[in-house]
Amino acid sequence: MDFKRLVILYGSQTGYAEDLADRISRQARSRHIKIYLSSLDEYSIKNLINEDVVLFVCSTTGQGDPPDNMQLFWKFIMRRGLPNNSLINVKFAVLGLGDSSYEQYNFVAKKLHKRLLMLGGNALVNVCLGDDQHDLGSDAAVEPWLLQFWETLGQIYSISNPNKSLLSPKYDVSCYVNTNEISENFIKEFSPTVQEASEKKPYKAELISNDRVTKQTHFQDVRLIKFSAVNAHCIYKPGDVLMIQPENTDENVDKFFEIFNCFDRSTIVECKEKDGISVPDVLKGQNSLENLVKYYFDFCGRPKRSFFEILSKFSTSELEKEKLEEFDSAEGQEELFAYCNRPRRTYLEVLQDFPETLACIEKEYFFDLFPPLKPRAFSIASSPKYHKNELHILVAVVRYKTRLFEPRKGVCSTWLAYSGLKYASIWIKKGTMMFPRPENVKPCIMVGPGTGVAPFRSYLLDMLIDKKKDNLLFFGSRNEKSDFFFKEDWENCQKENILQLRTAFSRDQDDKIYVQHRIRQEVDLVCRYIYDEEGSCYIAGNSNQMPEAVKDAVKECLIKGRNLTKDDADTFISNMIRKKLYQLETWS
Ligand SMILES: Cc1cc2nc3c(=O)[nH]c(=O)nc-3n(C[C@H](O)[C@H](O)[C@H](O)COP(=O)(O)OP(=O)(O)OC[C@H]3O[C@@H](n4cnc5c(N)ncnc54)[C@H](O)[C@@H]3O)c2cc1C
Ligand SMILES: Cc1cc2nc3c(=O)[nH]c(=O)nc-3n(C[C@H](O)[C@H](O)[C@H](O)COP(=O)(O)O)c2cc1C
Repeated sequence: MDFKRLVILYGSQTGYAEDLADRISRQARSRHIKIYLSSLDEYSIKNLINEDVVLFVCSTTGQGDPPDNMQLFWKFIMRRGLPNNSLINVKFAVLGLGDSSYEQYNFVAKKLHKRLLMLGGNALVNVCLGDDQHDLGSDAAVEPWLLQFWETLGQIYSISNPNKSLLSPKYDVSCYVNTNEISENFIKEFSPTVQEASEKKPYKAELISNDRVTKQTHFQDVRLIKFSAVNAHCIYKPGDVLMIQPENTDENVDKFFEIFNCFDRSTIVECKEKDGISVPDVLKGQNSLENLVKYYFDFCGRPKRSFFEILSKFSTSELEKEKLEEFDSAEGQEELFAYCNRPRRTYLEVLQDFPETLACIEKEYFFDLFPPLKPRAFSIASSPKYHKNELHILVAVVRYKTRLFEPRKGVCSTWLAYSGLKYASIWIKKGTMMFPRPENVKPCIMVGPGTGVAPFRSYLLDMLIDKKKDNLLFFGSRNEKSDFFFKEDWENCQKENILQLRTAFSRDQDDKIYVQHRIRQEVDLVCRYIYDEEGSCYIAGNSNQMPEAVKDAVKECLIKGRNLTKDDADTFISNMIRKKLYQLETWS
C-alpha cells in the first residue's frame, strides 16, 4: 500500500525538536518517502483530517507549556467542540522531548497523544518520551522508538530501505555573485511599535545603557541592560518576558570566514522550497552570505548528533568518516558526549577537527548543517508603572571553563554585553508567572536568587506605586559587596513598608547560606502568609536544584509552624500549584 506523504510537524522552543524533525525528514527522504516538514503553526491545520500519516515532534517548555511555534495549533486542537471522529482516517505518532526534573514532564507530548486519540486518530506507536536527564539524553528513548516507528510504518506501507548516500540540500539553494545592491538589513520588516512586535516582525529597540552591576573582581559579569520602547509599559505586566533575537559577534563571523575561507562573504544566497520542506520567511529572497552568517546560522552553539550524521556523508577521508559515523551511531554516543557535550565544543571547533571533511562542504548545505539562531528569553526587570517607555533586563553573561583552552561563551549574553550594539530585535511574550492584581490584598512571597530576582523588581516597583504591602522577598547571591542586585530599589520599597527583604549571601561567611536556609528561618512569616492568609509564592531563577530545595524549605516551615504531616504539606503545596498560588519561572 502507498501513502501520499509523511507529514512531520514540530513544536520546538530551543531547537532540539526542530533538529530531530529535520533528522527524521532525512531518514524519510533516504527511504524515498514524500514528506512535508514544518513547525506546527506554519502547517495549515485544516488539511490535518486528510493526511495519511502525521508525526508530531514536540518539546515541553516553561512550566508544562507548548513551545511558541505550536501555540496556534495547540489552541485549535484543544478546542472542546471538535468532533470525536475528526481524525478517524489519520495515523499518527507523537515524539516528545522533555526533562524529568520538571514537574510537568513531557506534558505537551503526553497531552497531545491523548487528545489525538480522543479525536479518533490511530496511534501507530506509543508516545515517545525523550528525557534530558538520561545519561545519553533524549536519544536513549528516541533511537529505539524511531526504529519501531519505521518498522511499523513498513508493515503498513511499502517503503524502500534507506539510501546511505548524501541527500540533496533541504532547500533549493541558489548562490551567485553579487552584482546589484541588496538590502543591508537581514530582517526586512520591523514592527513600528513594540505592541505589535512578534518573532516574525520584531521591534528594533534602541539600547539606552548596558552597565555591569557586579564588581569588576567578581567571577561573573552581570549586566543591567535598558532598552527604549515607546509605550512598552502599556502592554507588559510584571512576570512577562523580553524575547531577543541574538546575532553572532563580528569576531565570530570573521572566524567563520577564516574557516570557510573559500567562500565569498558577498555571495548572494536565495532559498526556495522543494520536496515539501517549508522555507522560513527570512530566507526567502536575497541574502548575502555574510548576513546569513551574522544573523541566521548558529555556529557557536553545541552541535547535535545530526551534525555528525551530515558531516559523515561529506567526508572523503576514511579516517574522518569513520569517526563521524561512530559519533552518529548508537554505540558512539558516550564518546560523542565526551568529545562534544562535556567540553561544550562548538560547531566551528568540531569542523576544525575534521579538516578534510570541512574542505568538501558546499555552501548549499549550510542550511542542513547549521540550525537557525534561536531567540533567548529574559525576565523583564523594569516596572510598567515605574519605568515608562523602557524595558530592563538583568543578564548574566555566560562564560565558563571546560577542559578546552578557550573559555566557553554564551551566544546571546556575550553579544548583548560586549558587541557594542545600538539596537536589538525584540518582542514581548507573556511569562508563565502571573502576579496578583494590586486590588488583591493577599501577601506575596518571592524567591529570586541571582538574576532570578529580575521579575520581582518589576512587580515590587509596581507595588511601590500601588502601595501594596505584605511582600516578602528572599534574594540570594554570593557576596553583599559584589552581586547584590537592585539594592537601592529594595531600600526604597522598604522605606515605604512595601517589602520585607531577606538576603542569603552564600560566600560572606564560612558556611554556605542559600535562600532555602533563610526561608527555614522564617517559619512564622511563611506560614502566616501562605497558610493563614492564603497568599502566593513565586520562585524564579536557575532550574538546577534551587526550585526543589526551596519547595522542601517551604514544606518544612508548614510542618514546623502549623503541625502538618509531610503528606499534608505535600498536598498543601500541590493545591497551591493547582490554584496558581505557587508559581515558577526557571531556566537552565
Ligand atoms: C523564561 C526565561 C527567563 C529568563 N530570564 C533570564 C534573565 O532574567 N537573566 C538571564 O541572565 N537569563 C535569563 N534566562 C536565560 C536566557 O534566556 C539565556 O538562556 C541565557 O542568557 C544564556 O544564553 P546565551 O545565548 O548567552 O548562552 P548559550 O549560548 O545559549 O549557552 C547557554 C548554555 O551553556 C551551558 N552552560 C552555561 N553555563 C554553564 C556552566 N557553568 N557549565 C556548563 N555549561 C554551562 C548550558 O547548557 C546553557 O544552556 C531566561 C530564560 C527563560 C526561559
Ligand atoms: C525554560 C525551559 C523550560 C522547560 N520546561 C519543561 C517542562 O515543563 N517539562 C519538561 O518535560 N521539559 C521542560 N524543559 C526541557 C525541554 O523540553 C527539553 O530541553 C527539550 O529537549 C527542548 O526541546 P526544544 O529545544 O525543541 O524546545 C524545559 C526547558 C527549558 C529550557
